[in-house]
Amino acid sequence: MKPIDILKKIKKNILSPVNEVRAKDVADDLDKLGRIYGTDKTGTHNYTTHYKLHFERFRDKAVNLLEIGVGGYEKPFSGGKSLRMWKKYFPSGNIFSIDIYDKSALQEERIKIFRGSQVDKEFLNRVCDEIGGIDIIIDDGSHINEHVTESFKILFPKLKEGGIYVIEDTNTSYWPEYGGDSNDLDNPATSMNFFKKLTDSLNHKEFLIPRYKPTYYDENIVSIHFYHDIIFIYKGRNEEKSNIPKKVQKGISG
Ligand SMILES: C[S@@+](CC[C@H](N)C(=O)[O-])C[C@H]1O[C@@H](n2cnc3c(N)ncnc32)[C@H](O)[C@@H]1O
Repeated sequence: MKPIDILKKIKKNILSPVNEVRAKDVADDLDKLGRIYGTDKTGTHNYTTHYKLHFERFRDKAVNLLEIGVGGYEKPFSGGKSLRMWKKYFPSGNIFSIDIYDKSALQEERIKIFRGSQVDKEFLNRVCDEIGGIDIIIDDGSHINEHVTESFKILFPKLKEGGIYVIEDTNTSYWPEYGGDSNDLDNPATSMNFFKKLTDSLNHKEFLIPRYKPTYYDENIVSIHFYHDIIFIYKGRNEEKSNIPKKVQKGISG
């Protein structure tokens, strides 16, 4: 083990019990928990404000949460900050994460970490099989546009009905280093355009297309919430009836 890793390990072992005491009385306050555990989901970003709103109903449930990206990159004893926050916020929850680097040293009771890439379909399928039903998926991994959409295509079908899929840091949708684009806001390769396109799925029952065959997303997304740099996608049966008035219907039939 490198000296820096030994120091990180010592720091983690000292900090853990201290943080547990500090977090004890604020376990229902995600902003405070975020600050205690040091994740950039609060402070640098304003994500915990939105997480509170969307995750509150899951709080006392035995949720299975999967987060892409442990943090700390190649340093084996760095990262895991958001995982510890989720563990505290969901007292009966099981927290799972994946990372391209080996972060197994950060595992603890109710936190399990798998090593692999967010675009490796076989690996992700194995992880999902091992977890069983997943209630919440958060993508806080590479933030490369192509990875973000690819992970969504693989993982969204694995999410339970009633579950939520979150994509963090959609700022990279505008940054060329990540495959994003600020100049052509209609560039179909960006993650924002992929998710913006899904908003039409919500209204597919209103399409004036005879014998239109709904896609998987048409039938399984019930709402999409866009905020600054973060998106929440709700999974459920999108079965609300159409409102097409008779005179419009006539227009398509003849
Ligand atoms: C921003 S950090 C995650 C921070 C953490 N979720 C938090 O809030 O404290 C991103 C992590 O994603 C990992 N990562 C990068 N590319 C990845 C990939 N292709 N598959 C899985 N993880 C990846 C990095 O190693 C890094 O640890």
